Amino acid sequence: MSDNKFSPIAVALEKDKNYSWCTCGHSINQPFCDGSHRAQNATPPMRFSCEEDKNAHLCTCKLTSNPPYCDGTHKK
Ligand code: FES
Repeated sequence: MSDNKFSPIAVALEKDKNYSWCTCGHSINQPFCDGSHRAQNATPPMRFSCEEDKNAHLCTCKLTSNPPYCDGTHKK
């Protein structure tokens, strides 16, 4: 389990499904958007999809250089 609140979250992504990755950090449904950015007047989600089913670690620190995927920046 995570020892860091900004550790990435492992998710199973489905081919051609549309996802909204939270960019603002306010969602309580991390790593996905729950609409909280509107009330916070924060940045909107990043929409993405995958060309194949895959397991991935999505960024929660929001500092990754490869959104929505974790690039290890949270450890720095
Ligand atoms: S709640 Fe963070 S982008 Fe929507």
